[in-house]
Amino acid sequence: MKTKVMSKDAANIEVADIIIGLINEKSDCVLGLATGSTPLGVYKNLVDASKTGKVSFKNVKTFNLDEYLGLEGTDKHSYRYFMNHNLFDSIDIDKNNTHVPSGVGDYQGHINKYDDHIKESGGIDIQILGIGTDGHIAFNEPGTPFDSLTHVADLAESTIRDNARFFSSIDEVPTKAVTMGLKSIMNARKIILLAFGDNKKEAITRLTKGTVSVDFPASILINHPDVTIYVDEEAAPNK
Ligand code: GLP
Repeated sequence: MKTKVMSKDAANIEVADIIIGLINEKSDCVLGLATGSTPLGVYKNLVDASKTGKVSFKNVKTFNLDEYLGLEGTDKHSYRYFMNHNLFDSIDIDKNNTHVPSGVGDYQGHINKYDDHIKESGGIDIQILGIGTDGHIAFNEPGTPFDSLTHVADLAESTIRDNARFFSSIDEVPTKAVTMGLKSIMNARKIILLAFGDNKKEAITRLTKGTVSVDFPASILINHPDVTIYVDEEAAPNK
């Protein structure tokens, strides 16, 4: 696991450039995408690169990490809406190639197929991740088994509190979500985790200390051969 400390802007440029480089080399690559405020700068750079013809997403396939249970993709708080709004609607991607777990209807049927669908598409080349203050990745909260595949998860109290800022009241935050599991994430060939701001410092410090434990889900990444963590000064680990 490599940790790179730089400004948020520099990290957003470097990570977007890695993704653009991959697409230009392998036009039908598979991207694993995340929501939350953290990857927004990278997505903005990808939109700019698409608009200026630096890259084409025409054959790119994407799989998102998670979705709130019970929210339709048209709901402003859903992660499908977030992805359309912040990335897919502004690039030349085929929407049929964009996958976000379904949180409604036959979501269980969708869950059962999600990991196979990723595999059949060639597997994730680069997985983008953020991190929760409790060390969750996607919606894999502390205690999630390391061999978990896509499943329904209960959100931790702290996650509901952290994510309430996107809703008009905390009571509106769904308490469950569909999420790729920790094993699903570990199957990616390359993983890039981004963390910015002092509220992520504690989690990043714990992650880079190197103890692997189900109590701190992100620590599974220590066992992956190709993980780079991009942090700004505020989120940089305590020595
Ligand atoms: C949510 C998402 C995670 C994300 C986390 C951090 O819980 N399910 O994938 O990493 O939020 O969000 P933010 O980037 O807004 O800090």
